[in-house]
Amino acid sequence: MATLSFLLIAAVALLVCPALSLNCTSQTFSQNTKFANCTDLPTLKAFLHWTYDPTAKPKPTLSIAFIAPPAKSDGWIAWALNPTASGMRGAQSLIAFKDSNGSVVVKTYNVSEYGPVSESKISYEVLNKRAESSHGVMRIFATLALPSGSAEVNQVWQVGASVKDGVPAKHEFSAENLGAKSKLQLVGHAAEKGGSPSAAPTSVPAAGGPSGNQSGGSSRVWGIGLGLYGAVVVVGVSIFGL
Ligand SMILES: *[C@@H]1O[C@H](CO)[C@@H](O)[C@H](O)[C@H]1NC(C)=O
Ligand SMILES: *[C@@H]1O[C@H](CO)[C@@H](O)[C@H](O)[C@H]1NC(C)=O
Ligand SMILES: *[C@@H]1O[C@H](CO)[C@@H](O)[C@H](O)[C@H]1NC(C)=O
Ligand SMILES: *[C@@H]1O[C@H](CO)[C@@H](O)[C@H](O)[C@H]1NC(C)=O
Repeated sequence: MATLSFLLIAAVALLVCPALSLNCTSQTFSQNTKFANCTDLPTLKAFLHWTYDPTAKPKPTLSIAFIAPPAKSDGWIAWALNPTASGMRGAQSLIAFKDSNGSVVVKTYNVSEYGPVSESKISYEVLNKRAESSHGVMRIFATLALPSGSAEVNQVWQVGASVKDGVPAKHEFSAENLGAKSKLQLVGHAAEKGGSPSAAPTSVPAAGGPSGNQSGGSSRVWGIGLGLYGAVVVVGVSIFGL
């Protein structure tokens, strides 16, 4: 019977259709928020939507939406640019989690050493930031000011299972966690098109990076004592919500 098969198909579609699409091009945002580009990140079921404006004054801006399911519902997600290396050490991070009062916050962390993270300034000016959580997925929205001439930046992302006393706790050290880094090509198409890098700004890379006051002496990393904790098995948390 046609109606029945329709219902079946609809039911299957509901089961299959996750709160979060597995393909960033079909993900949309509320409030008509749109981004020029998006990338399906290779690990941790994470996605980056972004708009780079090299002509913004006084500095180019990068607006992002980073989407990922935290490792557990009371966990955290993080996205960072690393101006000095490709991995976590040096990551200028935005970390989102549920604060003690239940609202989702996003804070900045200069992750410079292994150990618990502590909130601090980061080397990029953060023009705005907010975070939200729904259907088992968290989203970080932010706009950063970048040094001009940033054609490519190192990005790092991460998810963790818990937050203790307002401090995001260590993440797992599975291959997915350790592989959560890549280069974000801000201008032109990456390797596929060798042709037209003409749109790339040709300004001289800013020396020494953005200002960045030294603050909060004890900025520490969001991973901690690698080996000791590495054995905890990650239970794949479904992005499908409950
Ligand atoms: C993503 O989804 C769009 C439309 O839904 C489709 O055209 C595109 O091929 C998909 N890309 C991948 C990599 O699956
Ligand atoms: C929770 O606390 C933060 C400050 O830490 C505040 O900005 C926010 O409005 C509070 N949310 C609720 C629901 O009370
Ligand atoms: C981040 O931490 C590193 C190492 O402690 C320090 O050199 C750098 O100045 C810090 N950056 C900011 C913006 O505080
Ligand atoms: C971003 O998207 C625009 C069009 O919306 C495209 O021209 C540009 O090449 C894309 N950038 C990258 C790095 O893919």
